[in-house]
Amino acid sequence: MTMILLWLLFLPFCLINLSINTVLVTSLCVGNQQSLLLQMKKNLIFKSTKSQKLVHWNQSDDCCEWYGVTCNNKGHVITLDLSNEFISGQLQSSLFNLKHLENLNLAYNEFHSEIHSEFQNLNNLKYLNLSNAGFQGKLPNSISDLTQLVHLDLSFNNFTGPLPSFNRSKSLKVLSLNHNNFKGLVPSTHFEGLINLMSIDLGDNSLEGNFPSSLFRLQSLQILMLYYNKFDGHLEEIPNASLSLLEMVDLSGNNFEGPIPLSIFKLKRLLLLQLSKNKFNGTIQLDVIGRLQNLSTLDLAHNNLFVDASIRHEHEASSFPNLKRLWLASCNLSAFPEFLKYKSSMQFLDLSSNHISGPIPNWIWSFDYMVILNVSYNFLTDFEGPIHNLSSNLLKLDLHSNKLKGHAPTSFKNAIYLDYSSNRFNSINFTEIGGHTPFLYFLSLSNNSFNGRIHESFCNISGLRALDLSHNSFNGSIPICLTRMSSTLRLLDLGGNQLNGYVSDTFSTSCSLRFLDLSGNHLRGTIPKSLANCKHLQVLDLGKNQLTDGFPCFLNNISSLKVMVLRTNKLHGNIECPNNIGPWETLQIVDLAANNFSGILPAKLLQSWQALMIDEDKGGKFGHLYFNLYDDFNPLNFMAAIVDLNIELQMKLAKLNAAEPPFLIDHIVSHIFEEGVGLRSYEDSVTIVNKGHQLNLVKILIAFTSLDLSSNHFEGPIPEELMSLTALHALNLSQNGFSGRIPSSLGNLKHLESLDLSVNSLSGEIPIEVARLSFLSVVNLSCNDLVGRIPTGTQIQSFEADSFKDNEGLCGPPLTQNCSSEKRLSQEAYETAYSDDGSSVDWNFLSVELGLTFGLGIFILPLIYLKRWRIWYWKKVDDMLCRIVPQLGFVYENRRGEKHRILRRKK
Ligand SMILES: *[C@@H]1O[C@H](CO)[C@@H](O)[C@H](O)[C@H]1NC(C)=O
Ligand SMILES: *[C@@H]1O[C@H](CO)[C@@H](O)[C@H](O)[C@H]1NC(C)=O
Ligand SMILES: *[C@@H]1O[C@H](CO)[C@@H](O)[C@H](O)[C@H]1NC(C)=O
Ligand SMILES: *[C@@H]1O[C@H](CO)[C@@H](O)[C@H](O)[C@H]1NC(C)=O
Ligand SMILES: *[C@@H]1O[C@H](CO)[C@@H](O)[C@H](O)[C@H]1NC(C)=O
Ligand SMILES: *[C@@H]1O[C@H](CO)[C@@H](O)[C@H](O)[C@H]1NC(C)=O
Ligand SMILES: *[C@@H]1O[C@H](CO)[C@@H](O)[C@H](O)[C@H]1NC(C)=O
Ligand SMILES: *[C@@H]1O[C@H](CO)[C@@H](O)[C@H](O)[C@H]1NC(C)=O
Repeated sequence: MTMILLWLLFLPFCLINLSINTVLVTSLCVGNQQSLLLQMKKNLIFKSTKSQKLVHWNQSDDCCEWYGVTCNNKGHVITLDLSNEFISGQLQSSLFNLKHLENLNLAYNEFHSEIHSEFQNLNNLKYLNLSNAGFQGKLPNSISDLTQLVHLDLSFNNFTGPLPSFNRSKSLKVLSLNHNNFKGLVPSTHFEGLINLMSIDLGDNSLEGNFPSSLFRLQSLQILMLYYNKFDGHLEEIPNASLSLLEMVDLSGNNFEGPIPLSIFKLKRLLLLQLSKNKFNGTIQLDVIGRLQNLSTLDLAHNNLFVDASIRHEHEASSFPNLKRLWLASCNLSAFPEFLKYKSSMQFLDLSSNHISGPIPNWIWSFDYMVILNVSYNFLTDFEGPIHNLSSNLLKLDLHSNKLKGHAPTSFKNAIYLDYSSNRFNSINFTEIGGHTPFLYFLSLSNNSFNGRIHESFCNISGLRALDLSHNSFNGSIPICLTRMSSTLRLLDLGGNQLNGYVSDTFSTSCSLRFLDLSGNHLRGTIPKSLANCKHLQVLDLGKNQLTDGFPCFLNNISSLKVMVLRTNKLHGNIECPNNIGPWETLQIVDLAANNFSGILPAKLLQSWQALMIDEDKGGKFGHLYFNLYDDFNPLNFMAAIVDLNIELQMKLAKLNAAEPPFLIDHIVSHIFEEGVGLRSYEDSVTIVNKGHQLNLVKILIAFTSLDLSSNHFEGPIPEELMSLTALHALNLSQNGFSGRIPSSLGNLKHLESLDLSVNSLSGEIPIEVARLSFLSVVNLSCNDLVGRIPTGTQIQSFEADSFKDNEGLCGPPLTQNCSSEKRLSQEAYETAYSDDGSSVDWNFLSVELGLTFGLGIFILPLIYLKRWRIWYWKKVDDMLCRIVPQLGFVYENRRGEKHRILRRKK
């Protein structure tokens, strides 16, 4: 341990000198300085219990002695450091009267307000740090008047509006504007002539237009970060590239197109180059990186590039830079890049979504430091060598969506995350996976050809949080130890197997399941009462089994439930619950179809489904169903365990990475982390075809709300209360005994995309309001006793006549019968309609891909980067969790809908 601390203390690299000039001359506060400060303190709102500086300021002392205050030898306040003081509310104008200020640090506060005041008064400022201070709104243009600035850090706020010009601040060395909401074009003249600028970070804003080309002409520039904006167009060649000092360039997540300028590969000091997630095209011969001897991190993933990774001469390959992290996902690779054989310090390798076929070569397992390997979405068929003794330190291995067959490898003793889903594996050494992977947190064997009983050894993996065995041919009954294991498991998916017998009533009293899918098996008996212990359950799918029971009212203490699927079982009786005081407020998908439920729909139950009443009218409801494995879970405890156990590996990695600049490491950690928790995604528009209707998958997963009560024995009128579920996208009441009129308040369900009321005994006219539902794409009102003219509207006439057939008295388009001639339909036609199974849309929402975020970063990164980054990282985790937690479940993510990276499980 002491050794690690030692090298942490002597980090060799100091890119930017952050030291604040503290003048150690004691002098008396002059003039009105003290009263200005006290006035400011009086008006500022801050948490006095947590404050370390402000709280101690008082009249009786010289203000130059106060915490956070430094004066020059004339007694003028030149430094004010109020970082981390839990200040909220407005910035006080008295601050802007401290004209001699040179250093102002307000970082890490909670202002949550705009800055109205005039910066030009503070024209001596050299160091201004407002990072993470909660500021919002437009940044005053007067910031451009701070011509003495050397360091300006406005990162992690919510500043909006256009970027001001900085070209008068000729001394500027560090400019950090990342993680805000700046918009619009960035004129190249904004940075013209900033000859001292060493670092510029504009990442994660909404800036657009061409690349500000003056940046490439700044000869001192070392760090250039433009990631995650909306820049577009071609990138020019870099003038005098061989003289450039650039060390880190991240342009990922923009819309740059055309070829990658080859001069980029002449930036011989480069350590990090990230160009992923753009539209760069053309062919890249990977030899070009041969000259970049310092390059440790290269990311070309997700462009339209053809990367040719074959290196002609072996000696060239061995003199290649010592790459540590390489992302070549979606680069049209057709083989494993052989030159990697010689890169013994590889740590991350992502070759996913390429066309690599054949076996996985043995050398891939030979890297001592490789911790993350992703070869998913290729055409890999098997393993080159014997798989029982692959010695590897891998923490995460992603093999999913290949054609791997036979025996699945288990010899990854450090593994935290193993995804073998969507392959053709048929066997695995259960004893070994249970006994030799103590850190395993996530295991998916989904969609393979495993069979036989589910082995009890899964229960021995004490850290396991997610176990997905769905879509195999496992048979026998569910091991009792698995239901007991619900005290630690967050996700258990056994759907789509051949399991039979009873579900044992042994869910732990401290059940922490979020997701339980037992659907598509042959399970019998009743719904276990102990399931009520799973108070955090969000998704429950027991559909397509042979369960015989009443409606599970006893689950109504699970207030987090969002999805309840009980379809196609033998459940019966009334669905009224005796004391349903506000249960299931978050339910968004209720599927009770194809059971034997009966009686009228209880108004009280419908009224309790609050989430279905929220009128989401703000547009842009795109994203995925988020299921979060680490909500309400204390990563510190978990890490404490894991970190200590893996200390040897950590020490090796730490040593290996010690020579890299902290800024680079922070940047990579943040990159991987944000991917891991789903803030950065690539694939976001997959469509599925559902009985001929194309539906945008993204839309379904995120905002999808539905109520399917079809094929039961419900009766009575359609209750008015149902019409207050205004958020519904799909409503299916078909094949029941509903009678009476269609309520005209149906018009309230203005988000409805699918409406099926067919095969009931509904009478009266079709209310005109139905014609006004502008999102309807599926309608079926056939086989009722409806009469009168079909109302005319924008959509309704475009549906097939089938949607209305077999209603004796219905007329007008799209039906052929004219409203004057009241022809009656024959009994024959009625019967054909009954046999028409295609009338109900099978909203098989859970069988489409389920967005499952997994906070890979949380577990893996600290392991790799040890203490320094661990501390940094917890801050980050906190920030991230704040951003993510309110979005748990069905995420209505609009601002950055494209930034979800989802671990997909395809069936
Ligand atoms: C950092 O700044 C201080 C004060 O300006 C100066 O004395 C010191 O030499 C600088 N250190 C480096 C490594 O530039
Ligand atoms: C003012 O500060 C001094 C020194 O920090 C302290 O001893 C004194 O109690 C403070 N007075 C008040 C009124 O807080
Ligand atoms: C701003 O302050 C924060 C918190 O003290 C610090 O992490 C960051 O490095 C500072 N920025 C600059 C440019 O010094
Ligand atoms: C950022 O500001 C915009 C516009 O002022 C606002 O709509 C948005 O909610 C803010 N975002 C956050 C995270 O505060
Ligand atoms: C500074 O930037 C402004 C705004 O982009 C521009 O109008 C002006 O010409 C620039 N000045 C110089 C000297 O480049
Ligand atoms: C390239 O470098 C040369 C020599 O340092 C200099 O004269 C010239 O202006 C530079 N060109 C550009 C476009 O920066
Ligand atoms: C690259 O994309 C551009 C459009 O941005 C297109 O004109 C060009 O033909 C493409 N080049 C290649 C090699 O595909
Ligand atoms: C499974 O692994 C264990 C422990 O490594 C070994 O003893 C056993 O022979 C293996 N079983 C099979 C069927 O390979």
